[in-house]
Amino acid sequence: MTDITESPEWSALAEHHTALAGRHLRELFAEDPERAERMAVSAADLYLDYSKHRATGETLRLLLALAERAGLRERIDAMFRGDHINVSEDRAVLHEALRLPRDARLTVDGQDVVSDVHAVLDKMSGFSDRVRSGEWTGFTGKPITTVVNIGIGGSDLGPAMAYEALADYADAGITARFVSNIDPADISGKLKGLDPEQTLFIVASKTFGTLETLTNAKVARQWLVDALGDEKAVSRHFVAVSTNAQRVADFGIDTDNMFGFWDWVGGRYSYDGAIGLSLMLAVGPERFREMLSGFHAMDEHFRTAPFEQNMPVLMGLLGIWYNDFFGAQTRAVLPYSQRLHRFPAYLQQLTMESNGKSVRADGAPVVAQTGEIFWGEPGTNGQHAFYQLLHQGTRLVPADFIGFAQPFEDHDSDEGGMHDLLTANLLAQTSALAFGKTAEEIAAEGTPAEVVSHKVMPGNRPTNTILVPKLTPATLGALVALYEHIVFVEGTIWGIDSFDQWGVELGKVMAKDLAPALTSAEPPADAPDASTKELVRRYRELRGR
Ligand code: F6P
Repeated sequence: MTDITESPEWSALAEHHTALAGRHLRELFAEDPERAERMAVSAADLYLDYSKHRATGETLRLLLALAERAGLRERIDAMFRGDHINVSEDRAVLHEALRLPRDARLTVDGQDVVSDVHAVLDKMSGFSDRVRSGEWTGFTGKPITTVVNIGIGGSDLGPAMAYEALADYADAGITARFVSNIDPADISGKLKGLDPEQTLFIVASKTFGTLETLTNAKVARQWLVDALGDEKAVSRHFVAVSTNAQRVADFGIDTDNMFGFWDWVGGRYSYDGAIGLSLMLAVGPERFREMLSGFHAMDEHFRTAPFEQNMPVLMGLLGIWYNDFFGAQTRAVLPYSQRLHRFPAYLQQLTMESNGKSVRADGAPVVAQTGEIFWGEPGTNGQHAFYQLLHQGTRLVPADFIGFAQPFEDHDSDEGGMHDLLTANLLAQTSALAFGKTAEEIAAEGTPAEVVSHKVMPGNRPTNTILVPKLTPATLGALVALYEHIVFVEGTIWGIDSFDQWGVELGKVMAKDLAPALTSAEPPADAPDASTKELVRRYRELRGR
């Protein structure tokens, strides 16, 4: 494996950046009237306008050459074939298999992956139908009305994001709550007002060894047993999602009520499998399968479309362009949909746990800047909070704007339909970010001379606009798969293993070691460092220990 920054393709991009950095989007649009039509691509019902990028045909040609140099085509084939591309854990990376249709064929490490996946989906569907119809009842014979998913990271963010996103499709009167944090306020708050007789807990953990999840699950179990007065109630009110049947059994959950998955699904890539059980209970198996078909459509596009028309490839390469050549520090994701208010948080784990790496897959140091920092809020809330910095700050913040043509519901206002106003805001923002407003234009409006510079909108701020007909299960699936593959493209260029997450392990071990020092009656004997020792002492003092 060679260092990509040493390649002639990287050098050519660096040179090209020097030539292009001083050019304004106003000029690029003026020189090329067909730009908006040409720099657009459709896939799986998503339309991407990438014309508002500080890029020309030459930029794209050079970025595509870089992708070729990094072996992107071979890497895509290797992933879809089930090669062990997660090298540090020696695992295949096959979240795409979670959405393969029933008649597809894929055997990996001697195992018929498609039939395994559909066996779990069928089990989830059967269970969901029983719960949703009221056939599955709680211990006292009452139907389930609330599902509480207990999990963290990939075992929380995906189902929580998608449950919110598809709230309009929840049609069986089942609501879901999500408990993740080891902060006792989380479980206490989420248990408040629940009827134990009608509550089902899903303990979701790939490893079934995560402290937060097991601790919260124990609190929930105690709450249930206290309320219903019988240990036997647990089997009607607790199910598990995990890859580890032994630990599920040890916890006291009947493995008949366990929904499995496999080590070739990373936690942050898992909500389209059994980890999505809470979502399936809310929206039903049919909607869940529609979502899988949207994922699959984007997978197929990514696998087969030529790179110059391949949405994840283009978006991934443009991400590299800003991150590595313009030195952009972050990337904003701005969904113009209140339903997607958890989407940026979901993407943070997907992208940053995947690509926050400083060694390459072969263990050598990475020279390039890796790991885009994703953040965001739904528009228009963000406009009234941080967009000022996007428009006039000194930093370059590339942004992805995501909009939907049809609302689920709409209301009239004095200015027109609310949804049209929402969309008008999206379009206005991307236009203002790209083209800005010059000092001459501002002065011509009669602005006092001393105020003109304050009002100048520099523009030249790049954006993607993703326009989608409607937020449906299928388009949500396509959107999530799009970002999964963007992560893959970027990870491939940097030459890193996007599928391990060793960096979160040390803190977990240290927290376990430190806990006794906080709680014991004895003063702390040891602490990892002087600062931590002093903080432990002060904390104990504040707790009266
Ligand atoms: O924080 C690290 C991590 O391992 C994530 O990758 C994962 O999604 C999360 O913890 C939860 O893990 P599990 O599903 O095994 O409980």
